[in-house]
Amino acid sequence: MLMRTQVGIVGAGPAGLLLSHLLHLHGVESVVVENRSRDYVEHRVRAGVLEQGTVDLLNESGVGERMQREGLVHHGIELRFGGRGHRIDMTDLTGGRSITVYGQQEVVKDLIRARAGADGPIVFGATDVAVHDLDTAVPRITFRNGGETVEIKSNVIAGCDGFHGICRPSIPSGVLSVFERTYPFAWLGILAEAPPTHEELIYAYHERGFALYSMRSPEITRLYVQVAPEEDIGGWPDERIWQELHTRLETDDGWKLREGKIVEKGITGMRSFVVEPMQFGRLFLAGDAAHIVPPTGAKGMNLAVADVRALARALTGFFKSGKTDMLDAYSATCLKRIWRAEHFSWWMTSMLHRFPSDDAFQHRLQRSQLEYVARSRPAATSLAENYVGLPFD
Ligand code: APR
Ligand code: PHB
Repeated sequence: MLMRTQVGIVGAGPAGLLLSHLLHLHGVESVVVENRSRDYVEHRVRAGVLEQGTVDLLNESGVGERMQREGLVHHGIELRFGGRGHRIDMTDLTGGRSITVYGQQEVVKDLIRARAGADGPIVFGATDVAVHDLDTAVPRITFRNGGETVEIKSNVIAGCDGFHGICRPSIPSGVLSVFERTYPFAWLGILAEAPPTHEELIYAYHERGFALYSMRSPEITRLYVQVAPEEDIGGWPDERIWQELHTRLETDDGWKLREGKIVEKGITGMRSFVVEPMQFGRLFLAGDAAHIVPPTGAKGMNLAVADVRALARALTGFFKSGKTDMLDAYSATCLKRIWRAEHFSWWMTSMLHRFPSDDAFQHRLQRSQLEYVARSRPAATSLAENYVGLPFD
């Protein structure tokens, strides 16, 4: 089967789906090709912190209704170390900005519903997805779907297929520069059926390693502990996870973590990764396909959203006027924000984790940095303005 569209989009994560939705609002056609099932992408548990700008964009584009009802608006976060908490009042420090806690898979569900309601084609369960003729005016996506071979001819392809996708590796070698860091630890994350006992997120620095207290709803707590990178989930029975969480999160003034049934458990590696440029011919990369941040700054999904906001504008300009100036600037425009988030995520990660190679000197530096951020308004402001997200333009 042969299909024709203006923009062929590979990947139905937040990047691909939001791009398709924004293009539709601007009268540009697209088709999304995803290799997993709809059920799988709607239930894949990922991060859950939306920057103010992400929230505004979802609202302005008409997909924020459920987020407004169910999302939890937070005005601060807590840094916890030395047995006590230190609140960073983000709203006060940033002139009124806040974050919203709303699971990534909920954003994905809302976007799929919006696309389906507008008859926006999304192909789920595609196999053997490949991209071709990237440096021509008619790039192609091919795949198999239920025994049939499908070809999509388009004017532009958006590679929104995540870190392990096929778009980035389809760019000829020598074109991309790769910038990368891996970290000597991972996060073990759980979802627990336990009503949160603290209203805001807690980032905890502890001699046994980092821990994060987050949530998804008034009934569900989301928790993470730093573990060794090669750790097997089998070595972490529930009791061991709770034990570490209690040790790392509890305070001298008697704050207690509430336990509950663990309904999800997984280990995620930590890396920083950027490719430059985010373009080859008529293929444009967006989101995790082009860059990864460690989750400590909660920037992954927000960066994906910022990329496709820029890409949707550039593509709209291209299809309306034939001009390529915004498309030509796409990579450089996005990379400015991406490198800011790369630095912030690396900085938060470095401040809050125990590195196996660190000595007592390094631990003292970390404590000093944490105390400075907790005590100094300018230092806290720097954390807060990065955390709530810098303005788009
Ligand atoms: N063909 C088609 N689709 C693919 C392929 C392929 N070969 N490989 C991967 N995909 C799909 C994945 O199944 C996924 O649905 O591409 C989608 C990529 O989505 P994400 O990984 O969610 O990436 P992105 O949309 O860029 O969103 C970034 O995801 O990993 C988190 O922390 C990250 O929050 C950030 C967000
Ligand atoms: C989450 O709730 O999953 C979460 C929150 C903050 C982070 C990372 C993950 O920094």
